[in-house]
Amino acid sequence: MKVDFFRHNITAAERKELDQTLRGLFISTGDKVAEFEKRFAEYLHVPYTVGVTSATAGLHLAIEALGIGKGDEVITTPMTFIASANAILHAGATPRLVDVEPDTGNIDAARIEKAITKRTKAILPVHLYGQLCDMRAIHSIARAHKLKIVEDAAHAVEAVRDGVRVGELGDAAAFSFYATKNMTSGEGGAISVHTERLNTSLRQARTHGMSRDAAERYQRRFSHYDMKFLGWKYNMSNIQAALLTPQIARIESNLALRHKLYDLYKKELAGAPGIGFPVIRPKSRSALHLFTAWVPPRRRDRILWGLEEKGIGVAVNFRPLHLMTFYRKNFGFKRGMFPNAEALGDKVITLPFYPSLKPAQVRYVAQSLKDILAAL
Ligand SMILES: Cc1ncc(COP(=O)(O)O)c(C=O)c1O
Repeated sequence: MKVDFFRHNITAAERKELDQTLRGLFISTGDKVAEFEKRFAEYLHVPYTVGVTSATAGLHLAIEALGIGKGDEVITTPMTFIASANAILHAGATPRLVDVEPDTGNIDAARIEKAITKRTKAILPVHLYGQLCDMRAIHSIARAHKLKIVEDAAHAVEAVRDGVRVGELGDAAAFSFYATKNMTSGEGGAISVHTERLNTSLRQARTHGMSRDAAERYQRRFSHYDMKFLGWKYNMSNIQAALLTPQIARIESNLALRHKLYDLYKKELAGAPGIGFPVIRPKSRSALHLFTAWVPPRRRDRILWGLEEKGIGVAVNFRPLHLMTFYRKNFGFKRGMFPNAEALGDKVITLPFYPSLKPAQVRYVAQSLKDILAAL
C-alpha cells in the first residue's frame, strides 16, 4: 500500500471557479481576491482579511504594519516552522524565544512575562498543529504590558478555545494556504485584522506601498498612482483566490472528516509501547492540521525510514528553530536553552493526515508504526 503524506482535495468546484477566472480579464489581484477576503472574514467572524502570497508574507506585513522594527523584540516560540521567527527578522526586529508546554508544544503563557524587556513590542504565538495557544492568558499579558499580538495561524483556520476564535484577540493573525494546509492554493496566505487602519495599510503594503492596485486603476478613468511608503510585492492573485473561495464551504465538513481519522489513529495506536501524543486541552477545538506522534528519540530517524520503506509519507514538525545553524550562529542559541521544545523536537514524527485518507490507510500506517517499533 502507498500512503502519500498529503493529498489536496481540490474538486470540480475549484476547477470551475478557476476556469471562469482564466476566461476573465484579471488573473492578478482583483474581484476574486475581494470575494475571497470577504467570505474568509465572514467565516472567521472578523471585519477584514487581506489576501497575500504566504503566511510568512502575512506575518512580516502584520509586524511592519504594527510599527515594529529595528531595535524591537517580539516574543515567540522555538517549536515552530522557521517562518515564524524569520518574519520577525524580515521586519528588522529580534525574536525572543520562550519555551513551550511539554504536553501541547504551544508557547507556555506562564513563562512569557519573564521574557519581556523594555524593547518588547509584541507576542507572536503559534497555534501548533491547529490548537489555539492560551489566548486569554496571552491577551491579558499583552494588555498589561501594552504589547501587540500577531498570531501565527498557519495551522489554525478552524481553531476555537475557551470560547475564543483564532484571530479574535490578536491585533492580526496570519493564515497559510501552502500546499499541505487545511485550505490550499499551492502557495498563499491571508491576514485577519480588526481595524480599518490596518486593513488599508496592509493592502498598500502588499503592493509596494502603492495608493491603488492594478484592477482599481483600470476600472476608473485613468489616474496616476502614488507610492506613499516602501512596501512589498505580496499580493494574492485571482488565481489563488479562485482555488480558495469554494473551499470555504467545505471547511467544517473536512474538519469532521479529520476528526474521524484523528480518533481512528488514536484508537489504533492506543497503548502501543513507546508512543505518545500531544494533548488537546478541554474546551479546545483544534483545527487538527497535523497528526503527530512521539516516539523514542534515539530511534526516531530509523522509524521514519522504516515507514518510508513501507510506502508511507512522513515528516517532522518541527525541529526547534533555535537549533538551526543560522539561529545558533547569529543569536548564540544552544541545546539546553529550551528543553521542552528540544524534547518534543527530538521525538516528534508526523503521519499522513488529510480528509481523503481512507480508514484502511490509517490502519495500515498505525500497524506499520507498531510493527517497526516492536522490531527495533
Ligand atoms: C507554523 C507555521 N508558520 C508559518 C508557516 C509559513 O507558511 P507559508 O508557507 O504560507 O509562508 C508555516 C508553513 O508551513 C507553518 O507551519
